[in-house]
Amino acid sequence: MFRDQHGLEMTAASEQAVARYDRMMLHYLGIRSDTGDRLKEVFDADPELLMAHCAKGNFMKLFCTPPLERKAEESLAAAKQLMAVGATEREKRHVAALDAWCRSDIIGATDIWEAILLDHPTDVLAMRLAHFTHFYLGDSAAMRDSVARSLPYWHAELPGYGFVLGLNAFGLEETGNYADAERAGRRAVEINAQDIWATHAVAHVMEMQGRHRDGIAWLDGLSANWDGCNNFRYHAWWHKCLFHLELGQVDVILGLYDTEVRADTGSADYLDMSNAIALLWRLEEVGVDVGGRWVELADKAEDKIHDHIFAFHDAHYMMALAADNRRKAISAMLESLEGAAAAEDTTEGPVFRDVGKPLCQAVAAFGDGEYDRVVALLRPVRRQVFRIGGSHAQRDLFFRMLTAAALRSDQHRFARALLAERNALNPNSPWGLEREAQALDELGEAAAAEDARQRAAALMAG
Ligand SMILES: [Fe+2]
Repeated sequence: MFRDQHGLEMTAASEQAVARYDRMMLHYLGIRSDTGDRLKEVFDADPELLMAHCAKGNFMKLFCTPPLERKAEESLAAAKQLMAVGATEREKRHVAALDAWCRSDIIGATDIWEAILLDHPTDVLAMRLAHFTHFYLGDSAAMRDSVARSLPYWHAELPGYGFVLGLNAFGLEETGNYADAERAGRRAVEINAQDIWATHAVAHVMEMQGRHRDGIAWLDGLSANWDGCNNFRYHAWWHKCLFHLELGQVDVILGLYDTEVRADTGSADYLDMSNAIALLWRLEEVGVDVGGRWVELADKAEDKIHDHIFAFHDAHYMMALAADNRRKAISAMLESLEGAAAAEDTTEGPVFRDVGKPLCQAVAAFGDGEYDRVVALLRPVRRQVFRIGGSHAQRDLFFRMLTAAALRSDQHRFARALLAERNALNPNSPWGLEREAQALDELGEAAAAEDARQRAAALMAG
């Protein structure tokens, strides 16, 4: 029996295999693009390392695409065979969690990771995976508390401590504890300037507080450290574009879109596509001509109309189809969503039924210019949209869609109410103030409209 870098017992063939596993795990936490290479080195040292098979299966699930989900099942089968030969209780629970995830029982998998963390608070694989699933289950309080429960067992000398602070920062941010989130995130970045997750958590704080110039400076100051990071760096660039969008710097955004956010136009990765789709949609909503950029995204979305892994992704894929007017694919995807919404034995089934389906229908209706219908579909579910997962910054897309639809269908009193809500939470968003001014003009409240417009102009002028 061996112990890993966090003192946890591991079934392995050699010290060398465990050391390589430890190294691989730090690369995973660091969102490094060479994590797969580090995993291969683990298998070179010990092809039968149970935790490496578990890690691989989970990594395949994290790609959220059916071909790699099948690979996850191969890893699960290998892990089950090895478990029969000998495994610790913790390792057996990891196999059970992967098994649950492969059966689309995401809540079941998450519960097992949390049970592991209760007994082994330094199990970073369980912690990082639970962070991911809490995020896509829309449970930001669980994301925060999951890390908080384990933090007392962590200290600066434990490898990966900074990465845990980065997780802590993001959970705090998503639950509105901005000062604590920024402190934890900055501390993590002091420990490791390459920690892109912690960097990103602080960018979220600045987004939520409307600190657009701070956000641009923060990301500009750290982006030189992202070369070794995987495609998550495109998401960090997406955040930078959101700051520029509030400042009306459209040319900068289109430049960053082509050189960073969507530098890899061959990527069909869900996050890469969601970044690109959400950004193009926001640009068009403020009247920017995005040229032919939708075409390649809609092509890839057509291949994903039957995926239904997370409703969050589906809503984005539908957005690309709607933007490029892919009639057949839109109809096929709407029909296919009926099946996803009827699934009773998966965690996401009820999410598709209650939120994902109406959301995708609304996205399609927006593409058709049926703005009354968009409001009719979105208004009843707007308090449930969090269930599709994603961050507040990402889900703001659907708030913008509802607001734009309300304005374009002459529901100005409702639009104004939505904007009053948003501007109370974030008074520093020029987009929110300009849209509120638009609604106020329509309502005949010219003085209030002028005031909102001047506040937006002042924010943009700095
Ligand atoms: Fe983000």
